Amino acid sequence: MAEFVPVPPFDLVVFGASGDLAMRKLFPSLLHRYKDGQIPADSRIVGVARQTMDRAAFHAAVRDAYQRLAGGDPADPELDAFLELVSYVTLDGTDPAANWDSLKQALAGGEDKVRVFYLSTPPRVYVETCHQLARHGLATPTSRVVLEKPIGRDFASAREINDGVGAVFSEDRVYRIDHYLGKETVQNLLVLRFANALFEPVWSRATVDHVQITVAESIGVGSRGDYYDKSGALRDMVQNHLLQLLCLVAMEPPGSTEADAIRTEKIKVLKGLAPISASGADKVTVRGQYKAGLVQGEVAKGYLDELGEGRTSDTETYVAIKAEIQNWRWSGVPFYLRTGKRMSARKSEIVVQFKSPPHHLFETAGQPNRLIIRLQPDEGVEMQIEIKEPGPGGLRVKTVGLDLSYATAFTLRYPDAYERLLLDVVRGNLSLFMRRDEVEAAWSWVDQIIHAWDASGQKPQIYQAGNDGPIDADKLMDRDGRAWRLLG
Ligand code: BG6
Repeated sequence: MAEFVPVPPFDLVVFGASGDLAMRKLFPSLLHRYKDGQIPADSRIVGVARQTMDRAAFHAAVRDAYQRLAGGDPADPELDAFLELVSYVTLDGTDPAANWDSLKQALAGGEDKVRVFYLSTPPRVYVETCHQLARHGLATPTSRVVLEKPIGRDFASAREINDGVGAVFSEDRVYRIDHYLGKETVQNLLVLRFANALFEPVWSRATVDHVQITVAESIGVGSRGDYYDKSGALRDMVQNHLLQLLCLVAMEPPGSTEADAIRTEKIKVLKGLAPISASGADKVTVRGQYKAGLVQGEVAKGYLDELGEGRTSDTETYVAIKAEIQNWRWSGVPFYLRTGKRMSARKSEIVVQFKSPPHHLFETAGQPNRLIIRLQPDEGVEMQIEIKEPGPGGLRVKTVGLDLSYATAFTLRYPDAYERLLLDVVRGNLSLFMRRDEVEAAWSWVDQIIHAWDASGQKPQIYQAGNDGPIDADKLMDRDGRAWRLLG
């Protein structure tokens, strides 16, 4: 049974409170935790944004977004009670002359409480906002700051942000969010690997043929085109979500669940990633960009049309990478990563494919065993094994899945990743947040790919929306005698 242990009363300030992330994820997540009794009634939540609005207008916006973006009931009486905790301050966090006194008033008397500043703003304003918080005496010793991804757009800008934020908040008070780490099924990766003795002996190059990590989306970039076009799939998804998944699959067992024990093991994986050179990048990376097509029976615009009429762009909406980890456990085992928008289905999964038996005893050769960890949707864990198909008429080998489906095994509502992460910040638990060296190591590797693409002029290949990426992504696998697992 899930247990809802209340956190201590806290003050939470959300910068960028009128933005999409705050409205779509943060406020609904806080509401859910409030409904389950985890947020004490003397906590205070302050929305901060540049838009001039009074408290009532902000409440109306939260209520409307709860219905429109999170599918909630705007007349829910618990929403009314929750909104009692929520105030609003009009403020530009980078402006020294802004109305900082109103924020001070909103937080008055809370100097000893846990105080959280959530920066749901573009990363370029992180450093200045932190400096303003310090200058106006708001960054108390018990306060902490939450930074949304992306932390910068390359190693140098990430370091600049980390240095600037670090000048105000010590590292143990900086919570860098990668919301994938808050997903139930991603947390389960650690449990699956380290609470079962079964997997460890087969979790290495001796038995594993390769690993596939897929984060496929059926949505396009929609209204986020301006941000996305400066980013692309490599920066938006690989640098953070996919590399975090890779770390959890490949890391050595940590000594404990302490944040630094886990984070230290993850960083070893990132540092062990084989370099990707400009001359070799086209052999191990594929870029793609979608054009119009049919996605799940609906006509979807192409990427350029989504950006706006007459726009051109070389930004990738799909990327596939063959990564290798240079250590004893994984030497020679490729980790194939792929992610893209407007693919045939929304599906995130990890496939650990084991080696074929060394000698084929039976006439009908079966498939190599696979462990499939379905992250979303249809969360579950499936072990594919070979069995004798029952019945007369020869001996036939058949692949069957030992399938643990979360939906069948558990009837709980899955909390959104942000529910867990937001309360972990209040609890002071950093395990599911990225340390600065982790973010920087991830950028170091991704920077090589960006430089390689720039140097070689590798352009995205066009794929039709509703297809699972460009043809070269299949060729990447084919060259190694392997194939992507089908998404359908
Ligand atoms: C975000 C990316 O971090 O993750 C988006 O910026 C992407 O482009 C999203 O759509 C995917 O998250 P989820 O939880 O829907 O898989």
